[in-house]
Amino acid sequence: MKQKEQQGKGEGSYLKLFFAQLDLLNFFAHALVFGIGLLIGITLTFFLNNFSFVNFQIQQSSLSSNAAEPPPSPPPSRPPFSPISSNISSPISATPTKNISQYFDSSPQKDNQTIPSSDSSLVNNKTSVTNFTRIGLSEFLKPPMAMHDMNDEELLWKASMVPMIHNLPFKQTPKVAFMFLTKGPVMLAPLWERFFKGNEGLYSIYVHSHPSFNETVPPSSVFHGRNIPSKEVRWGENSMIEAERRLLGNALLDFSNQRFVLLSESCIPLFNFNTIYTYLMNSTKTFVEAYDQPGEVGRGRYRPKMRPQISLSQWRKGSQWFQIDRFLALQIVSDHHYFPVFLKYCNPNCYSDEHYLPTFISIKFWKRNSNRTLTWVDWSKGGAHPSRYYRNHVTNEFLNKLRFGTSCEYNGHTTNICHLFARKFTTHALGRLLRFAPKLMQFN
Ligand SMILES: *[C@@H]1O[C@H](CO)[C@@H](O)[C@H](O)[C@H]1NC(C)=O
Ligand SMILES: *[C@@H]1O[C@H](CO)[C@@H](O)[C@H](O)[C@H]1NC(C)=O
Ligand SMILES: *[C@@H]1O[C@H](CO)[C@@H](O)[C@H](O)[C@H]1NC(C)=O
Ligand SMILES: *[C@@H]1O[C@H](CO)[C@@H](O)[C@H](O)[C@H]1NC(C)=O
Ligand SMILES: *[C@@H]1O[C@H](CO)[C@@H](O)[C@H](O)[C@H]1NC(C)=O
Ligand SMILES: *[C@@H]1O[C@H](CO)[C@@H](O)[C@H](O)[C@H]1NC(C)=O
Ligand SMILES: *[C@@H]1O[C@H](CO)[C@@H](O)[C@H](O)[C@H]1NC(C)=O
Ligand SMILES: *[C@@H]1O[C@H](CO)[C@@H](O)[C@H](O)[C@H]1NC(C)=O
Repeated sequence: MKQKEQQGKGEGSYLKLFFAQLDLLNFFAHALVFGIGLLIGITLTFFLNNFSFVNFQIQQSSLSSNAAEPPPSPPPSRPPFSPISSNISSPISATPTKNISQYFDSSPQKDNQTIPSSDSSLVNNKTSVTNFTRIGLSEFLKPPMAMHDMNDEELLWKASMVPMIHNLPFKQTPKVAFMFLTKGPVMLAPLWERFFKGNEGLYSIYVHSHPSFNETVPPSSVFHGRNIPSKEVRWGENSMIEAERRLLGNALLDFSNQRFVLLSESCIPLFNFNTIYTYLMNSTKTFVEAYDQPGEVGRGRYRPKMRPQISLSQWRKGSQWFQIDRFLALQIVSDHHYFPVFLKYCNPNCYSDEHYLPTFISIKFWKRNSNRTLTWVDWSKGGAHPSRYYRNHVTNEFLNKLRFGTSCEYNGHTTNICHLFARKFTTHALGRLLRFAPKLMQFN
């Protein structure tokens, strides 16, 4: 028994010794791996500390060209290494120097260009690598400035992008984009200022005025810095559609814009912000007026050359002043099928502004369109232009007639709120509008 125990003990100590040796071996192996790791680490740190990014690139390319040398000489006229890599750094360093400061006045801007500086500090400043505040999507989602140096083609391409994932990984407050298509200033701006007051964060404003218009808007105004790059617009011509697409394109760049309203300088609101916001956001339909009108000023403007893309039976007429959702706005800026047909054949005396959207939307997106506009106007006097309203027209009674005077369908119910905006009001009407409207419409 004792012997056996001793034997057992002896075996145990042998085993212990064996395992101890194994441990030692293991330790050395680990130490070796650690040492190599440390060496690599130190070498890398040394590289990163002492060489700039560009230097590192050059070294790398020279290294790989060295590696490519041993195989017998390639034709000497061509460099051994791909020319692409040698040219990569030039466009990167060339882009930021582009000078677009001419577009912006020197008044305080909320958006400081923080991206480039934070980027460079990530590369150059080791402390910030270990401690930087989370950016997440905030830079990506930040609404861009209204003014920029993209041309139309670049703008519409950028604006046409749509996320494939519909669930948002952030909280979004949907906004209404109010897009003013004007010649000069927004004439009734003081009324609109009152309208927007207290509703910050629920709207964005875009103004497309004549390119030569250079009057500055005071920084306190909601219209300050809201002019987009513009081109000349001629009444009744395709340049009008181009301006509408330009406005939509700019408004689409802000992801929180979910409804899009086109307004003229002579438009006024007929309800307070809250009512208009709710009406637009809750609507199951878009508001692009579209109807088929026989006779010279309807079907008479159709051009047979528009076949086969557009047939006479598809030709529609309607007011250009629309209220649409983001889906339709995306379709309009992306349309490369119907708009070129208008560009080619709808001139002169064809009036694309009254036919392009009504026709395009009635062909492709009629299901969700109400075929009516929310902008009240009076054509009853006849002629090429609707009635204008001056000082003495503005009374509570008149305004209430525009607010509740007709009936129509909204989300499957009959309502007497059919118009949220009205035109055409002149600056002469402004004084009385400012006196009556805020109280009547219960502005904030
Ligand atoms: C590098 O780019 C410049 C301008 O961007 C161009 O003129 C030059 O030909 C390019 N060089 C090569 C090797 O591609
Ligand atoms: C950019 O343009 C503005 C105005 O045109 C000018 O004052 C400024 O010096 C320019 N800056 C550079 C870096 O060219
Ligand atoms: C914008 O950044 C510049 C340079 O980083 C700084 O001098 C300036 O004060 C900043 N402006 C604002 C409004 O933050
Ligand atoms: C690096 O970051 C620290 C801390 O944010 C800052 O104090 C320092 O000025 C930065 N250095 C450079 C070269 O940007
Ligand atoms: C990290 O940055 C924050 C804010 O800039 C600062 O309060 C904090 O002290 C920093 N931490 C370290 C370890 O540098
Ligand atoms: C604005 O344009 C007019 C001509 O259209 C010109 O006479 C005037 O000097 C311009 N003003 C400014 C501040 O550029
Ligand atoms: C839409 O209508 C419902 C009631 O039908 C209301 O509760 C909701 O607040 C409305 N939405 C908006 C954005 O106003
Ligand atoms: C709008 O007009 C189209 C034809 O252009 C028609 O199919 C559709 O039913 C109309 N929608 C409404 C709501 O009237």
